[in-house]
Amino acid sequence: MYKVLRKERLTPKAVLLEVQDERAKLVKPGQYALVQANEESEPIPLSFLDVKESSYTFLVEVGGRATLEIAELVEEKIQFIEAPCGSPFPVKNYGKVLLISKNWGVAPLINIGRALKEESNEIYFVHVAEDEERVFLTKEASEISEEFLLFTEDGSLGEEGNSEWALGYFIENFGKPDLIVSAGSNLDSQMINRFAEERNIPHIAMVNAHILDANGLCLACRVLVEGQEKLACIDGPWFDASKVDWDYAIQKEAFYKEEEEKALKTFLRELQRLKARGR
Ligand code: FES
Repeated sequence: MYKVLRKERLTPKAVLLEVQDERAKLVKPGQYALVQANEESEPIPLSFLDVKESSYTFLVEVGGRATLEIAELVEEKIQFIEAPCGSPFPVKNYGKVLLISKNWGVAPLINIGRALKEESNEIYFVHVAEDEERVFLTKEASEISEEFLLFTEDGSLGEEGNSEWALGYFIENFGKPDLIVSAGSNLDSQMINRFAEERNIPHIAMVNAHILDANGLCLACRVLVEGQEKLACIDGPWFDASKVDWDYAIQKEAFYKEEEEKALKTFLRELQRLKARGR
């Protein structure tokens, strides 16, 4: 069991969760943890946002049953955490770096953005959210950036636009970056990658995959990189986006969609019953 030090609701769709764990000192930029709310919950990967000596903080955006369980039911303890997991981000001096996040992707990009800034990179940040309920941590993102730009796809906050539009706007107004880093959506990273390739801009992306054990045994998280099978849980989550087979990654991501929707509906009914009983 892991002690929850702080739980803060950011929007109806997201919470921040700070957890005590001595392994925090081992965490490197860009890594993640496998988190299981309680015994029956599905373990899910969560990227680190802030890391201190003996605690770390996650942004939890509600998307399915497992994240809803954390957002609604976790108060004092987390059942299980495997950490740190994955390969760290290749932190070095690239020059002018554009971080472009979709929804929850803002958290891992703030985490690596801080490390990249320490290496004297010039950081620009573009956050694209589906709607205003998925706009998070704008102050933290602004603090590490020369410029922070906010877009929502429905125009409810900031400028209206999707990732491709936002990227075009950025390049028109701030010039070409030396590196683009994206996180939060395979679909958006694919779109960004087409744009980056046309303009010859290096692009590193976080690939989202089904991570079940995070130790290379179940093979559920396979992705294709330059035609070779790689494991997102240990080789990733960061890959050279120009080498990733994005169609394959997107297809695999959608594989359990139906089951996930059913699980979410069942849990929502359970949650209503728990709330009606005054939990
Ligand atoms: S999550 Fe099982 S091998 Fe990667």
